[in-house]
Amino acid sequence: MSKEAYYEVFKEISYGLYLVTSIMDDRMNGQIVNTVLQVTASPPQFAVIINRNNLTHEYISKSSVFGVSILSQDAPLTFIGLFGFRSGRDVDKLSQVNWVKGVTGSPLVTDYSIGIMEVRVNTRTDVGTHTIFVGEIADARALGTGRPMTYEYYHMHLKGKTAKNAPTFNPSSKSSN
Ligand SMILES: Cc1cc2nc3c(=O)[nH]c(=O)nc-3n(C[C@H](O)[C@H](O)[C@H](O)COP(=O)(O)O)c2cc1C
Repeated sequence: MSKEAYYEVFKEISYGLYLVTSIMDDRMNGQIVNTVLQVTASPPQFAVIINRNNLTHEYISKSSVFGVSILSQDAPLTFIGLFGFRSGRDVDKLSQVNWVKGVTGSPLVTDYSIGIMEVRVNTRTDVGTHTIFVGEIADARALGTGRPMTYEYYHMHLKGKTAKNAPTFNPSSKSSN
């Protein structure tokens, strides 16, 4: 099987879609990820995989905290586009949405979110282009009863694309992936 064909297999893996936020001093930022994963039950620990070039990477590296908003299927492409295709280096994303400050100090975006969580990072693993941040839950709160946005729903119904800094990006694809 050619390496390009591998990506047809990778595409079948299921994910959700989340907004991960963090702080650095008094600055705040957030980005879209499909890579939030619970890694242990007791204590509850979660991982997120963040590209080293993202501003959010710098913020999580320095503050060792991150927030997660579990996005609902109502989230429009404009909202996902702001957080998934634009960098906080060029635009103040948090000023354009509703958010609350969490117990860790991290902002938590409440728009189009059915649940919010906060994590204190205790382990980080350098995996080349990305870092895997793992940590214990500091707080979690349900916000609504909508259905969670999945990666499949985003691609099939919103016709969304994957950003080049996502771990699931297909480097050999010329169109959408
Ligand atoms: C559907 C989708 C999934 C994404 N998943 C990830 C991810 O898991 N990890 C990551 O580092 N970037 C991911 N990205 C890319 C970031 O959201 C994007 O690079 C963002 O502009 C970074 O913003 P920042 O520089 O303000 O941190 C994804 C983007 C999209 C649209």
